[in-house]
Parts: sequence; structure tokens; C-alpha cells
Amino acid sequence: MKTIKLAIFGLGVVGSHVVKLLEKNSYVLDNTKFKIVSISAKNKKKKRNFNIKKYSWFKSFPELLKNDKPDIIIETIGGTGKNINDLYKLCINNKISLITANKAQLAEKGHSFFGSFDEKNLFLGFEAAVLGAVPIVRSLEQCILPSKINSIYGIFNGTTNYIISQMYENKISFKDSLNQAIQNGFAEQDSSADLSGRDANHKLLLLSNLSFGNRFEFSKLNYDGIENIKLIDLEQGLKLGYKLKLVSISERHSKRFYSSVAPCFIPENSIVAKTDYEENVISLEGENFLKTSLVGKGAGGYPTATSIISDLKRYITYSKEQGVFKIKYENMPKALFIDNSKRVRPYYLRMSVLNKVGVLKSIAQIFAQKSISIKSLIQLNTSNEKIVPIIIISDSVDVDKISQVVKNLKKTNFLKKEISVIRIEENIG
Ligand SMILES: NC(=O)c1ccc[n+]([C@@H]2O[C@H](COP(=O)([O-])OP(=O)(O)OC[C@H]3O[C@@H](n4cnc5c(N)ncnc54)[C@H](OP(=O)(O)O)[C@@H]3O)[C@@H](O)[C@H]2O)c1
Repeated sequence: MKTIKLAIFGLGVVGSHVVKLLEKNSYVLDNTKFKIVSISAKNKKKKRNFNIKKYSWFKSFPELLKNDKPDIIIETIGGTGKNINDLYKLCINNKISLITANKAQLAEKGHSFFGSFDEKNLFLGFEAAVLGAVPIVRSLEQCILPSKINSIYGIFNGTTNYIISQMYENKISFKDSLNQAIQNGFAEQDSSADLSGRDANHKLLLLSNLSFGNRFEFSKLNYDGIENIKLIDLEQGLKLGYKLKLVSISERHSKRFYSSVAPCFIPENSIVAKTDYEENVISLEGENFLKTSLVGKGAGGYPTATSIISDLKRYITYSKEQGVFKIKYENMPKALFIDNSKRVRPYYLRMSVLNKVGVLKSIAQIFAQKSISIKSLIQLNTSNEKIVPIIIISDSVDVDKISQVVKNLKKTNFLKKEISVIRIEENIG
């Protein structure tokens, strides 16, 4: 029987559960088994949920290579620091394959080493880095990619989905929901990467590379987070048949692409809208298979560790010609993006305006100046006689035009307080 030697770097939530899964199960495939030869983390003295004395602890990379050179390093540290860069270089220079849960490093720095992994025929597994336990990389590579994919979309971050779900269920503000999510262990004290949409964007980039065979560059992608969402908009959206979600979308438009992470209103009966709390969902649309969706746990020790084990199995059957993204990185063209004017959607705008004759006419004129029709205008009940909240649903319009309308509305003296602007994605299924 062949034995694949593993080194595990990072023994926190994910890394420790990889050790536990490997200790609990003797995974054997194609007459191959796996053996942990060394482990490491920041603090050797820290209490772990397994016995570290069973494994050799490496303090430095030279020590890691000297002891018992691994075939695969499993990286579950996270971040984009120098130590992570050095680890990736170590793999490339010493022909060691890598399995990682670290989407930040892959999405932000991956462009500088994907080619080297391909050139050296090294396996780079990232199933755990995208959507936790949802087996999307494997499904794409083995089942879906023979068909052309036209769009991928879904919920790629469990923390923000948990916060939004609690807002709906408990009728609480974003801030209160965030605090509850921290207390319940579904958000960290510093959840900025989750809240800002950056984390979802990391995953969207990797899945777009794989789905479309183009290189998506992090610096070219737009993402927006949920820090400014308001309970009143969630409630008003429901009355119109929409649910608000942090939606990640990547679409093919002939030879160009559209990519976005943003809070959007989507039909409340869609699969994506019905995916609540820490669950993630990805839907793919394309030729032949039409549409398929996968839903599951996007994070957590055992769910994410399961994806790392899945990558171990994938390593055994990995074809050297394959490349990190199914085709060699050097053969993947840079993704080009459509102009904003090429993609139009209805928008929801909520604002508070002076209760004065002529105000509604002025609003209509501001929309008309940009050739945008108003689909509906709803005046909300209020006890305040001087200021009235209104909701406008615009006709389909591009983001630049709606931004100009908002800018012009802000210049008026009848607009009071903030203005909420939310894109409506009617086609999300
Ligand atoms: N948690 C999840 O559910 C989840 C899901 C999907 C993907 N991921 C990704 O998986 C990665 C790990 O996440 P996690 O939640 O497991 O993190 P974590 O619990 O914070 O664990 C990080 C581990 O890395 C070690 N570490 C930190 N800095 C180090 C350094 N300079 N040198 C050596 N070791 C160092 C820590 O050591 P000590 O233990 O000694 O402090 C700890 O064992 C991240 O990229 C994350 O985005 C996590």
C-alpha cells in the first residue's frame, strides 16, 4: 500500500478537525493511505483538542523538510502574510503539493504562483477555501464543466447570511444582529472581511476562474457589504415579494464578464432567498444542464475539514495535465468586463422627503432627466406631517445612471436623511 505523507500547518478550527478526521477514519483510496508526518501552529503550548505528542512539531521550514519531507502540506492558517507566501514558495521549490482553506491568499496573491504550480505539475486543492463543505470544486471539475457555464450566483458567506437571517427573524437592527452573531459564535470580533463582502469576493473569484476558464483579477472586481443595510428596507422589500441577501454573481456576456458581490433584493421564493443563517448556496446556469444548485454548510471545523479530506482523495486521481483551474493557468486569458451600461436592473430607492406640493414632480423630473421611468412609487405611513418616507422602484437601468440620480437627489433641499439604494435581481432562481 502506498502512503501519502502530510504536514499540517495551522491547528485552529479547521486544522485541528482535519487531524481529528484523519485520526478517526482510515481513509484508503486506490491502495493509498494518508499519514500525518508533522504539524505546526503559532503556539506549541496551546491546548489542542488532540494529542500533539503523537506527531513531530516543526519550528521552521528547513526543519519540516529535514524531518520527513511531506508529499502534501495542508495550510489552515489564513491571511496573506509573508509566512504564507514563503510556504507557497517552499511548496513550489520543493515539489510539494498544497491543500488550503485560505481563500484570501489564493484570490489576492494566487496570480503570482498558480502558473508555477501548474508548471511543476503540483496539485493545489482549494475545495475547503470555497463554500466550506459544499463540494462545488469537485462538482464543477467532474460533472458540470463539460457544459458551458453562463452564470454562477449565490450566497458565499455564512456570517453575513446569519446576520441578515436574524434581522428578519428577530426584527432587529444590523448592529444588534452582528452582536448576537458574535455571541453565538457565527461572527468573529473582527468580521470586517465578511461584512465588507471581501470574503465572498475571494470565493467568487476562485469559482469564476474555474467556471469560465478566465483569470479574474481581484483588483478589477467590485464588492459591497452589508454594513449599511436597514431593517426597514428588509421589511419593505418583503411587502414587494423580495428578500435581501448578500448576493455574489459572475456572468458570461459573450466574451466579457460581469462580476459583483452586493446586497440585492431577490425573489423571496427563490432557492437563494430560502437559504438562511450560516448556510451557503451556489447556483449555476449553463448549456445542457440548464440550472443546478448546491446548498450546505459554508464553514465550521468538521464541514470544512471534510472538504480537505475530499481534496486528499482528489490528489490521488489528479491528472498532471490538469492545472489548478482544470486548464493550465498560462493558457487562461485575463477576464475582461462589460461596461456598466450593458447591464440594467430595476432599483429600489427609499428616501425621506419634505411633505410639500411639487416634491414628487421634482423627483420624477430628476429620474426623467436620465431617461429613467419610475415603475412604482409608494408613500409609507408616518406620524410626522412634515417629512414622508417614500419608496421608488425604478425601471431597469444601469448602475451609473442610478448613481447620477441619487447624486442629484442629494443636491435637493427636499431630501431629508439617508437614501437606501438596493439593486433588484429578478432572475435569481
Ligand atoms: N473556520 C472556518 O469555518 C473556515 C471555513 C472555511 C475556510 N476557512 C479558512 O481556513 C483558514 C483557517 O481558519 P481557522 O478558522 O481554522 O483559523 P484559526 O482557528 O484562527 O486557526 C489558525 C491557525 O493558524 C495558526 N497560526 C496563525 N498564525 C501563524 C503563524 N504565523 N505561524 C504558524 N501558525 C500560525 C494558529 O496557531 P495557534 O493555534 O497556535 O494560535 C492556528 O492554529 C483561513 O484561511 C480561513 O479563511 C475557515
